[in-house]
Amino acid sequence: MLRRLMTALSMAFCLAVTALAANAQAPVRGSPRVEALLARMTIAEKIGQLVQMPGGRQKALNSRIDDNERARIRAGRVGSYLNVAGAEATRELQRIAVEDSRLHIPLLFGMDVIHGYRTIFPVPLAMAASWDPAVPERAARVAATEASAAGLHWTFSPMVDIARDPRWGRIVEGAGEDPYLGSVMAAAQVRGYQGVGLDRTDTIMATAKHFAAYGAAMGGRDYAGADISQRSLEEIYLPPFYAAAREGAGSFMAAFNEIGGVPAHANRALLRDTLRTRWRWPGVLVSDWNAVAELRNHGVAESEGDAAELALRAGVDIDMSSGAYADTLEARVRRDPQLLALLDEAARRVLMIKERLGLFDHPYERSDPANEAGAMLTPANRAAAREAAARSIVLLKNDGGLLPLAASAPRIALIGALAQDANSQLGSWRAQGHVEDVHPLLPALRAAMPHAEIETAGDEIPAAVAAARRADLVLLVVGEDFDMTGEARSRADLGLPGNRQAMADAVLDTGKPVVVLLMNGRPLAIHRLAERAPAILETWFLGVEAGPAIADVLTGRVNPAGRLPVSFPRASGAVPFPYARLPSGRPADADPAHDTTRYRDLPITPLFPFGHGLSYTNFTFSDFAVRPLPNGTFRASVIVCNDGARAGEEVVQLYAHDPVASVSRPIEELRGFRRIALAPGEAKRVSFTLSPAQFAIWDAGRWRIEPGEIQLMVGASSADLRGRAAFRIAGAGEGREPAAAIFTPSSEEPIR
Ligand code: GLC
Repeated sequence: MLRRLMTALSMAFCLAVTALAANAQAPVRGSPRVEALLARMTIAEKIGQLVQMPGGRQKALNSRIDDNERARIRAGRVGSYLNVAGAEATRELQRIAVEDSRLHIPLLFGMDVIHGYRTIFPVPLAMAASWDPAVPERAARVAATEASAAGLHWTFSPMVDIARDPRWGRIVEGAGEDPYLGSVMAAAQVRGYQGVGLDRTDTIMATAKHFAAYGAAMGGRDYAGADISQRSLEEIYLPPFYAAAREGAGSFMAAFNEIGGVPAHANRALLRDTLRTRWRWPGVLVSDWNAVAELRNHGVAESEGDAAELALRAGVDIDMSSGAYADTLEARVRRDPQLLALLDEAARRVLMIKERLGLFDHPYERSDPANEAGAMLTPANRAAAREAAARSIVLLKNDGGLLPLAASAPRIALIGALAQDANSQLGSWRAQGHVEDVHPLLPALRAAMPHAEIETAGDEIPAAVAAARRADLVLLVVGEDFDMTGEARSRADLGLPGNRQAMADAVLDTGKPVVVLLMNGRPLAIHRLAERAPAILETWFLGVEAGPAIADVLTGRVNPAGRLPVSFPRASGAVPFPYARLPSGRPADADPAHDTTRYRDLPITPLFPFGHGLSYTNFTFSDFAVRPLPNGTFRASVIVCNDGARAGEEVVQLYAHDPVASVSRPIEELRGFRRIALAPGEAKRVSFTLSPAQFAIWDAGRWRIEPGEIQLMVGASSADLRGRAAFRIAGAGEGREPAAAIFTPSSEEPIR
């Protein structure tokens, strides 16, 4: 009797402690419907909501759905599927869940819709190069309308990992190296996917991934650990996640990597203390594929059950595909009542998201076959993809004004296998994009230049050289195949793969005017090509409208205004080399006689700097000044003029440096930007409003605002600075958000 009393008391105490701990985080209470449902659920049914099964593969959707899966749904032992899509397929499974299971809880269907569902947009790194948040927002909006028409509720996107090491193959999936640009692009994609509200059936739930610091992988090797300081984590890698959470992202995905030896899926400080308690984020946190079970590989769990328990305690709500929750949690929960409260908390969050998506009221509306076909690849969607592609192209070099091509260019040699490789334009995450949907370069070029005679050649050097010799101008297409970036695609050598450098050299040796078109998913170390080729366009992988967009830029129908979201290195060994570097006690000096922080065998600058991009016209900056406003903010403004003969767009970039602080601060950090259109001769004043909190420094758990001078630099890239000014922060204070995640309002007004 006494033993039973003691057990009951200890259970009650544990539940109280856990409830208290849970309440210390963002208070999570569901609607009466959710709470009533939770109260009726068995332990097995609660665990069922935390189970996500693979219903197929990206290239074989629904291929794993069989009677066993249907039975699993009927028994309430699965809460969501990935890689199940299609109105019919999702409707069939949803009907089983809603009508045949005991509690009629609807399923969630999720998928990697990364840069388009059927209308494939430029890869995310390319869209970041537009420096126009409307571009990824529009792409996400189109993706949401198509994916939701196919019965999907959830995309595992945006990937918001900051990446400063181009050896890391997944750099292609994010917005590059800068936390401010990354935060802007993260919020824009969440807005696009989730629209005005997730109860609208043309929306899908966004996932901010991979939480966190996945891009800081040691050596750029995918899945490797991140050995970074807490300051780097808070100031560089977390801001885009914070921006996504603030924008209302319904879910987060934990990262494969460990930080300082603590795997993300077992990292309670990250998943609970930061995400739930500090940021008060109420959404659902899903594991990455099989990552719960892989806690054993990390060496922090001895068994599958230990791994499951560790992940649940750390705050992982849903186990994607590993089976660890399904196989082991019930026994663990029955053995340890403290886990029951954590199980309730996780199941509650899943039910709340299903309610937020409107699935309890209209579980079938996103699975309407009548709506599906008509939603895909519409002319409007293609037009949006073409505009996104054109706005993402970066003019890296244009010596002698070789571009835009004269309409009368008689004989053109279009050289390089990539020029004909429509498949690569879809990138590595292509959802339901079809190669035959891609409008490739050659027909687009022929349509744009009907008088030109265009001959093609692949990567074989003799044929390439012969074609170049017969031409008046060469379009040399080099770079990487789509499959050289993306997951598990890290490379140690950032040069042109295969024989492409030798082929490029041989073509350049002909002495013909050569325009290089780069197609790639990461910065490449192409210093020799960059020295020799007079003109270079960075065209990334641009999606279904790649050809027309490139032709638009080549012929001048579109004046390129993309800017690099990541630095290009001079050599594979010169990474990571972010622009926002600390000065060190011996700041880099171009004079090799001085002992400073540099490589002795390379110049101290990158091949192409962060923010770099040229135009077919020319912009001048003047009157840069900053002044305090009554409300404690500061207004920086500059006049930008198009003094060329062609309309164009400039990306006005605002950088900041804190010259003296309690810790060493980066030599410059992006704190604002605005892409503006200017007619020939037109001038505009561009203004940015800054707050002291945007210069706060992470200091042991808080954002400290320090008094002192802040230097501002405005320019056309991180290395092309056209104006300097400074202001003083008068008093100390405390920020409430990551400094880099605080958006800088900007405006433009014409100068008469
Ligand atoms: C992959 C990726 C993740 C993706 C998930 C589901 O391994 O890391 O980004 O969302 O599995 O496909």
